[in-house]
Amino acid sequence: MEIVARSTNPLTLKADCLVVAVPADKKLSATSAAIDKATGGLISRRLDGKDISGKCASTLMLHEPNGINAKRLLLVGIGTEAVSSKDFLKIARIIAKQTKGDGIASVATTLTDVELSDQDTRWAAQQLAQQFIEASYAFNGGKPLPASKQKLKKVTLLCSDKKGQSAAQTGLNYGQSVAIGVNQTRLLGDLAANTCTPSYLAKHSRALARKHKSMSCQVLSEKQMAELGMGSLLSVTAGTEEPAHLIALDYKGGKKGAKPIVLVGKGVTFDSGGISLKPGAKMDEMKYDMCGAASVLGVMEALADAALPINVIGVIPAVENMPSGKATKPGDVVTSMSGQTIEVLNTDAEGRLILCDALTYVARYKPDTVIDIATLTGACIVALGSHASGLYSNDDDLAQDLLDAGQSAGDRAWQMPLWDEYNQQLKSNFADMGNIGGAGGGSITAACFLSRFTKDYRWAHLDIAGTAWLSAGPKGATGRPVPLLMEYLRKRATA
Ligand code: BES
Ligand code: MN
Ligand code: ZN
Repeated sequence: MEIVARSTNPLTLKADCLVVAVPADKKLSATSAAIDKATGGLISRRLDGKDISGKCASTLMLHEPNGINAKRLLLVGIGTEAVSSKDFLKIARIIAKQTKGDGIASVATTLTDVELSDQDTRWAAQQLAQQFIEASYAFNGGKPLPASKQKLKKVTLLCSDKKGQSAAQTGLNYGQSVAIGVNQTRLLGDLAANTCTPSYLAKHSRALARKHKSMSCQVLSEKQMAELGMGSLLSVTAGTEEPAHLIALDYKGGKKGAKPIVLVGKGVTFDSGGISLKPGAKMDEMKYDMCGAASVLGVMEALADAALPINVIGVIPAVENMPSGKATKPGDVVTSMSGQTIEVLNTDAEGRLILCDALTYVARYKPDTVIDIATLTGACIVALGSHASGLYSNDDDLAQDLLDAGQSAGDRAWQMPLWDEYNQQLKSNFADMGNIGGAGGGSITAACFLSRFTKDYRWAHLDIAGTAWLSAGPKGATGRPVPLLMEYLRKRATA
C-alpha cells in the first residue's frame, strides 16, 4: 500500500473514494463546503435529510457523486469543532474499515486537516496511515498476503497547504513504520504454537538482523544459559522437547556509546501451565503467551524501518512450558542467575521465572532504561480488562512518560502499585521467595517478583495479558503495546 501526502485540489483528484468530514453543527469546513458546492449540494441535502448526523464516527457512503472526480464520497461525522485525539482515532479506525470494499483501490481524505484540540497534523497523518495499514492485516498462515488480495493500493492524505503537507509526510512515514511493527506482532501472535516455537522466534530474529544493517542478533543456547547460571529460566523448559533460546537483537540507530534502552519480551510459545496444568477451556489461547516477545520483534522491525536515531536492544527469553516426567514440580527450589533462590510453588507462574533471569542478564548492557513486556497474569485481566495494559515502574518519571505515550498512541496503560505490603506476599519458608503471591493482587505480586531482579537500573513492566489479543470479535492478536512503545521511543529519540 502506498500512502502519500498531497496538496492537490480534492475536487479534481481521481480516487475510488474521497473521505470528507462533516461536523455535528453542520457548519462545513472550507474544503467540505467546496465539495458540497461542486456536487450541487449533495452533502447539505444528506445532512438536511438526516441521513448523517455529524456525530463522531457516524458514516454515510454516497455513490457516483456528480461534479467531482471521485467515484464515491464517504461522509464521516467528526462531532464537535475541535476534535479530541481520542475521537480522531475512532474516526480514523472507522474510515479505514469502511473503505475496505472490493471496488476501492484508492482512497483520498481531507481529514488530515481537521482541527484537533490536543494534537497536530503530524500526529493526525501518522494515525491515518497506521489505521489504513492495520486494517489491511489478514492472517494468511504466516505468509504475506498476495498482491491480488490486497485491495487498497493507494491512500492520499490531502492537505490544504505545503506546510501541512510536509508535517503530514513526516507523520505518515512514522505511522507506516509503526503499522509494519504492529502487523508483524499480530502475525507472530496469531501463528500456531506448533509453528511458532522458540526456535522459530530465533530464526525470525536472525532473519530480521540480516535484513537490516543497523541490527545484529545473538542467540544463546540452553548450554550457554546453564553456564550463566539461569536455573530459573531453565526450570521452565525442563518438561518440553523444544529447545529454549535467549535471543538478543541489537539495533544501533543512535550515537555510538549512547546507553541503550532494553526491551525484554516474554516468549512462552505455549503455556500449558506445566505440572500445574491449566484447565482445558481456552487453552489454545496460550499460543499467545509470546506476545510480549512478538511486540519486541515488532518494535525492532519498526525502529529499523523508521531509522530512528536511538540505541535499542530487544531481549527475548523463548521457551515452551509443558508437563512431562522431566518437568519442574511444585515445591522444587531453583537458583536464579542473580543468586536468589525461588520455590516454584506453581509451575504455571512461569513467565516471571524466565523474565527474572533475562532481567539479570540485561544489566551487562549498562542500560539507560529497561522495559519488560509480558502476558504475565490472568489477574491483570480481572483488574483492567482489555482496555489498558498494567504498568509498573521503579521510576515515576519513566512511568509518566509511558502513560503519556500510551495516551497519545491510543494504546493506554494504567499504573499499578509496587508496595512493600504486596512484596511481602512472596515470602517462602524454603527459599528467598516463592513464585506466587497467594490470594489477591496477582498482577501486582508478579510485578513485585520481577522488581527483585531490577534494582540496578531504571525499569518498567507492562502486563499485557488483557491487551495483547482479543478472544472474540474477531479473535486475534492486537499488536499492542507496539504503538505505545514506538511513541515512547520516538519521543526519546527526538528529546
Ligand atoms: N500466561 C499466563 C497469564 C495469562 C492467563 C495471560 C490468561 C492471559 C490469559 C501466566 O503464565 C499464568 O499462567 N499466570 C497465572 C499465575 C498464577 C499461577 C499465580 C495466572 O494468571 O493464573
Ligand atoms: Mn502460566
Ligand atoms: Zn504464561
